[in-house]
Amino acid sequence: MKISLVSVPAAELNVDALAVPVVTGQKLAGAALELDRAMGGVLSEMIVNAEFRGRIHEVLPMPAQGKIAPRRVILFGLGAHHDLDGQRLRSAHHELVRASRTWGYKRMAVMRSDALGEDTLKAVVEGCVLGTFERRSRQTGQAPERREIDEIVLAGFGGSREAEVLAAQENGEATNRAREWQNAPANELTPDAFAQEANRIAQRHNLEIEILGPGELKSGGYNLLLGVGTGSAKPPRMIRLRHHGNHGLAQANGAVLALIGKGITFDSGGISLKQPENMSRMKGDMSGAAAVLSAIDVIASRNVPLDVMAVIATAENMPGPSAQRPGDVLVSADGKTVEIVNTDAEGRLVLADALTHALRNGATHMIDLATLTGAATVAIGHAASAAISNDDEFWAVVERASREAGDRVWRLPIYADYRILLRSQIADLRNSEYGEAGTIMGGMFIAEFAGGKPWAHIDIAASAWNTNLELTTVLHGPSGAGTRLCIELAELMARGGTDSWPPTPRNA
Ligand code: BES
Ligand code: ZN
Ligand code: MN
Repeated sequence: MKISLVSVPAAELNVDALAVPVVTGQKLAGAALELDRAMGGVLSEMIVNAEFRGRIHEVLPMPAQGKIAPRRVILFGLGAHHDLDGQRLRSAHHELVRASRTWGYKRMAVMRSDALGEDTLKAVVEGCVLGTFERRSRQTGQAPERREIDEIVLAGFGGSREAEVLAAQENGEATNRAREWQNAPANELTPDAFAQEANRIAQRHNLEIEILGPGELKSGGYNLLLGVGTGSAKPPRMIRLRHHGNHGLAQANGAVLALIGKGITFDSGGISLKQPENMSRMKGDMSGAAAVLSAIDVIASRNVPLDVMAVIATAENMPGPSAQRPGDVLVSADGKTVEIVNTDAEGRLVLADALTHALRNGATHMIDLATLTGAATVAIGHAASAAISNDDEFWAVVERASREAGDRVWRLPIYADYRILLRSQIADLRNSEYGEAGTIMGGMFIAEFAGGKPWAHIDIAASAWNTNLELTTVLHGPSGAGTRLCIELAELMARGGTDSWPPTPRNA
């Protein structure tokens, strides 16, 4: 899909449909009001009569009846202005594009709302691209329900911003690529297949890549990753890609950012077997790995001036004659002993070894993305990722990146009081707790392996896969959560993480 900017009046565009954003409770203004006049006032009539309220995800197509060049006008809602942030703005455009694809429009124009600044271009482009996502169908002989749009032209965003459009498009497409990996069945996307995907990306950009198999993992002492994978016939892998982007640039201060992903290709729970309900969803337990792989793809292709590595710990968590048992004690790569109380708390185990691997390879800052705890859904639901960090300064940069990317994160506390949850009678740490503060405990376990370096943990267990159909403002199914966050974080750190924040709608 081509996306371009135009400066001619939207009413003169030769397109199948022209989309007009509406903010709840606001009258049409500026270019939208001009359009309304050209249409004989039918748009404002729908709004004044409250037949169209501008609620987020409300989409209404109308025939233009030859009054303007576009054949249809679509009113689409952005919701209330004070609720609008980057994530909701993307979601509104996502819905517009999805609906338009069911109607089969090929060329579309989208106007900027008078209530929003030109700086919302990135969110608009990313939202539109997210709306083009279609899970690859494995159904035979089914006609697709939605068609593809050839071109979207954006009106009201000024000109000479092609580079910004292109970058935003890449961000959206990277998110969609992560969504496709998330959705891939676990019999296709095994740890080895995942490593091959990483290899393809490395070849494309000439990235340094290292893939550790069982032999290398054993000699490196990565026993926690090995332990999780031992019940499966598909052996684990530790994947590391490295983008050398910091060519002595002072503003990056020699920082080496590690993007670390949990890559459990299937999580049955192991001997601590999960309930059968929704167990199939656990094919998505590699969502964190999908996000970091997709992110480093963009970071490398854009040649972001920062040293960035992606580290993916991938394994299949299965029961079996050689599976690890509750009560087992393992020695992690950094030497700490861990009592496996629950084999279903496997994410923190593979991540612990992944952090050690990142540190051994020179990471100075680390962010891990993981579908770690069901408790994250209880804590904040699908609307945001839950986060833990050991460093306020680094966290401030992560939070900025999150806002800029429209990829929400919300930080939970680390009180010393919680440390008791990690205490084992027989080992340095235990991997599971008594049942409270589950998301925090998972994060605090991983923090033990951060070597005191600035680190943030993003628990995407809820945000990576929205199963709540009522919660319409979050992408349904696989969402690619964390992908744009990682891209943005690398870019922000490359710029020193200190430049002034672009003005955006509230919270955006
Ligand atoms: N992959 C799961 C977490 C998860 C649950 C992700 C639901 C997405 C949706 C993780 O490995 C897990 O099983 N966590 C346990 C931890 C517990 C045993 C301490 C959980 O949340 O129940
Ligand atoms: Zn898991
Ligand atoms: Mn688990």
